[in-house]
Amino acid sequence: MVKGVIDFYYFSGTGNTLLVVQKMRDVFTLEGIRVNLHKIEESNPEDINLNHTVGLGFPIAEMSTYNFVWNFIKALPKTTLSTEIFMVDTLAGFSGGIVGPLREILKNKGYIPCGAKEIVMPPNIFFIQDAGACKKKVEEGIQKAEKYAQDIVNGKSQWGRVPVLSDAMYYASRASLKLTESNINQKFLRLETDEEECRKCGICYRLCPVNNIEMEEGEYPQHGFNCEYCLRCTSFCPRGAIPCPVNYKGKTYQAVKAKEFLK
Ligand SMILES: Cc1cc2nc3c(=O)[nH]c(=O)nc-3n(C[C@H](O)[C@H](O)[C@H](O)COP(=O)(O)O)c2cc1C
Repeated sequence: MVKGVIDFYYFSGTGNTLLVVQKMRDVFTLEGIRVNLHKIEESNPEDINLNHTVGLGFPIAEMSTYNFVWNFIKALPKTTLSTEIFMVDTLAGFSGGIVGPLREILKNKGYIPCGAKEIVMPPNIFFIQDAGACKKKVEEGIQKAEKYAQDIVNGKSQWGRVPVLSDAMYYASRASLKLTESNINQKFLRLETDEEECRKCGICYRLCPVNNIEMEEGEYPQHGFNCEYCLRCTSFCPRGAIPCPVNYKGKTYQAVKAKEFLK
């Protein structure tokens, strides 16, 4: 059973996680629970209120999640106040088992893990789907989010003991891939602006959650080497001027409008 106020910390690159988090917020609110949404990229983990229930929402990336999301979670303060915590992630199909290790980290900090859910949404990477298939997947995902939030309210959700196999699978996949940590994508899949298409509107600069895009006045945006590959810039560029090398024919995915993320 959640306490009176939920502080829901989330990151969403292209909108899937945002839709799920917003649906959950709506369910909680209808149940009379106050919910504060916080963007992880703009939040300081040390500022969290340990008297509130904490929610975490994030996308799966490379069978884990983004480094800055991990950093936020790892920097959460220890608690002795029986602070409840729940999580939700969105994914295209296979998360690699992040739920297990995350639970252990949070339990060791003193939190009470009270719910974990992985919700399949359209892939925003290797994107080839048609609009109809995406819409259906989003609808199904949002229904699951609604049910999950109800379960949290009713004390039916669980972040139970995750089988050892799941933990083993997670660590094996991390050890073999090491993609996010090594930032291999900076070498092979680096995003860059097509200067013929770019109109220097600065939207990519304002969207980047890790300030990896710099822009001097009147100049084209310059991409650094700390991209987390959340695909916000490529997805929301109004000119399609930041091509995503792994998407089919350069198609990009966005579940919401850019204004949801503009700083
Ligand atoms: C770099 C990157 C890596 C991804 N890796 C995975 C993955 O390992 N497994 C998976 O199921 N989905 C993966 N996805 C798909 C996203 O998790 C999924 O589309 C998610 O719902 C996107 O959420 P968002 O719109 O809130 O950013 C990946 C997406 C990106 C951009």
